[in-house]
Amino acid sequence: MLSNNTISLVKSTIPLLSNAGTAVTAHFYDRMFTHNPELKDIFNMSNQQSGKQHFALFNALAAYATHIDNLPVLAAAVERINHKHASLNIQPHHYDIVGTHLIETLKELAPNEFTPDIEQAWRDAYALLADVFITQEEGIYKTTESKQGGWRNTRTFVINEIVQESVKVKSFHLRSADNKPVVGFQAGQYISVHVKPKGCDNTQIRQYSLSGVQQDKGYRISVKKQGLVSGHMHSLNVGDVVELSPPAGDFMLQQTNSPKVLISAGVGITPMMAMLESIAASKSDVKTQFLHACIDSTEHSFANRVNALTSSTPNIQADVWYEQGPSQYHQGRIDLTPLTLPLTNGEFYLCGPTPFMAAMKAQLLSLGVAPARILYEVFGPHESL
Ligand code: HEM
Repeated sequence: MLSNNTISLVKSTIPLLSNAGTAVTAHFYDRMFTHNPELKDIFNMSNQQSGKQHFALFNALAAYATHIDNLPVLAAAVERINHKHASLNIQPHHYDIVGTHLIETLKELAPNEFTPDIEQAWRDAYALLADVFITQEEGIYKTTESKQGGWRNTRTFVINEIVQESVKVKSFHLRSADNKPVVGFQAGQYISVHVKPKGCDNTQIRQYSLSGVQQDKGYRISVKKQGLVSGHMHSLNVGDVVELSPPAGDFMLQQTNSPKVLISAGVGITPMMAMLESIAASKSDVKTQFLHACIDSTEHSFANRVNALTSSTPNIQADVWYEQGPSQYHQGRIDLTPLTLPLTNGEFYLCGPTPFMAAMKAQLLSLGVAPARILYEVFGPHESL
């Protein structure tokens, strides 16, 4: 329990944290990677270079300070972070490291505002938050490990098939190296791949949505070639091995009878494929609309599979938009307005570039869809839409 005085001291630092510009966040990460270079094996160093991840931590702490007297408001955000952390195998001692560098950064860069009283208040508040995170993350580790085929940290998988799905996307079929069963997942969840790309001094971890149906001894992911780790994945061959963390993530197909609308763009199609396959395999009669946008035919992944599923499954219907080039599909960008959608009782799942999801969410809200019916997954550091 935090005292009222601690709460009000922490709240007084909201402007300091929410206005933490690049100077503060860069100082924090530089400090942390200088003193604890082993963390370069956990953080996405490409995001560090682009500055993307810099703000997620400080924004989260500002949100914590804002809602410190009403923490249930943050439950969904905390759960999302816990899944991401669990997929990265974050451990209790890491919280001490991050906490130390946070406090020292604020002391060094804002000595007048970050007084000894405020420092103590933040030490107490951070300890409480870290405790919540550590407990919830241990809960995820334990639950996953105890399930049939589950494991903790990483496990070795062999690539046993590679399929080119479109010009930039390859699917990797991964089988457990010990040839034993693997834990199940919910359609929409991701796994982390741990690799050391050529020329890179550190292990790099990336999350990829599972794109296929549940299999006994393996998983399928589908990767777009666009950066350091995906470039490395695209250079691998059948027979090569990768290390994986178990499935995690809070973006999942809800097990309800509500109609489903799966809306994706580009490689955002990957969790939607898992959802579509899972709906088709379940033989349920839940009405499902699959709406997908891509640049053109060369970037259209899984076209044949989606066509096969719509032909064989009467409750699944698909619409596709090509942004450019001649096409048998819709042309231009997705416009939801003329479609017949389950606006009052449907569940809407979004995945794709953030501007695309923001546009889809805005269209859905203007059509009267309740915000709680719109679920989405962001690839990369989480941004709200
Ligand atoms: C991701 C918050 C502690 C490592 C994130 C994200 C947030 C966050 C908001 C983005 C989540 C998303 O993209 O969905 C926090 C808070 C912490 C904390 C509030 C303390 C209470 C830690 C610790 C570590 C860590 C102790 C490990 C040393 C990471 C990593 C990512 C991440 C590696 C993924 C992004 C990247 O690779 O750059 N965290 N975090 N975090 N966090 Fe934490």
